Amino acid sequence: MSNVQVDVMTALVSLERVLEVLDLQPTVTDAPGAADLADDVARTGASLELDRVTFRYPSAAEVSLASLESVAVEGADPTTDTLTDVSFSVPPGAMVALVGASGAGKTTVSQLVTRMYDPTGGAVRIAGRDVREVTQASLHETVGVVTQEAHLFHDTVAENLRYAKHDATDAEIEEALRRAHVWDVVSALPAGVRTVVGDRGYRLSGGERQRLAIARVFLKAPDLVVLDEATAHLDSGSEAAVQAALAEALRGRTSLVIAHRLSTVRAADLIVVLDAGRVVETGTHADLLARDGRYAALYRTQFADTPAAVA
Ligand SMILES: Nc1ncnc2c1ncn2[C@@H]1O[C@H](COP(=O)(O)OP(=O)(O)O)[C@@H](O)[C@H]1O
Ligand SMILES: [Mg+2]
Repeated sequence: MSNVQVDVMTALVSLERVLEVLDLQPTVTDAPGAADLADDVARTGASLELDRVTFRYPSAAEVSLASLESVAVEGADPTTDTLTDVSFSVPPGAMVALVGASGAGKTTVSQLVTRMYDPTGGAVRIAGRDVREVTQASLHETVGVVTQEAHLFHDTVAENLRYAKHDATDAEIEEALRRAHVWDVVSALPAGVRTVVGDRGYRLSGGERQRLAIARVFLKAPDLVVLDEATAHLDSGSEAAVQAALAEALRGRTSLVIAHRLSTVRAADLIVVLDAGRVVETGTHADLLARDGRYAALYRTQFADTPAAVA
């Protein structure tokens, strides 16, 4: 009985923290009367435009919980912009590749497109519509994302895919897995698509997880795909399979690709070279090589030794 009081007091402290989290206002919210992006996309197609976008990450003090302040991690210097005056645009169905050194701001650009953050200046537009004017639900319907770290929940393969489409049938799931070049792997698992995966379930390799993420894209069929391409940790067999799956997933869709591979960059309709948060060059592969500037230098150091096979 004497211990009960200790347990209750401990629980109350935890509850206070939980309530603090529940009360936290998200920095990104739907505007009053937000529109449905699907209507704009149906009318004009999913063009993508960044118009003089400037962005600074919020400081730790702006985003973290008051009670965590004393231990909050040091944020970036709040006076420096991560992106400065970034502009580019592509028509529906086109592919734009972002290239640049690590830390140049490529991932940050992709996070503004999916509205993980709002720009501090300028605008991101999809189908001509500022993403701040549409509902987040319709934005998430329109944009599909494949990141470097494909997350799987502790659940079956099938349920992991249904996060992309709640009412997907078994046949649709098989079809998506086949198109993502991962059906052979999944069907060989102990319980096929009913095998539990994730941290405590069956451990899939990085390349297999990434192909499951691509299978989600096929199920969801978004009009715009954002891809933070990472193949550094894939073995070459896996890389070829991921590559083939991606080529198919991007076909006919607008895409923003953070590209590390020459074959992807070459195929892009527009290449945007970022350096320290600024656009330093834009053009096609041929344009930029002919200019013999930053891209040409990057190309020689970063891409020249990677295989150009598999379109
Ligand atoms: N959540 C964050 N908070 C503060 N600064 C960040 C955050 N994420 C990235 N940065 C900083 O923004 C800059 C651009 O990062 P990022 O967009 O990830 O570059 P890239 O993808 O081109 O390697 C880097 O200087 C990085 O340290
Ligand atoms: Mg990155």
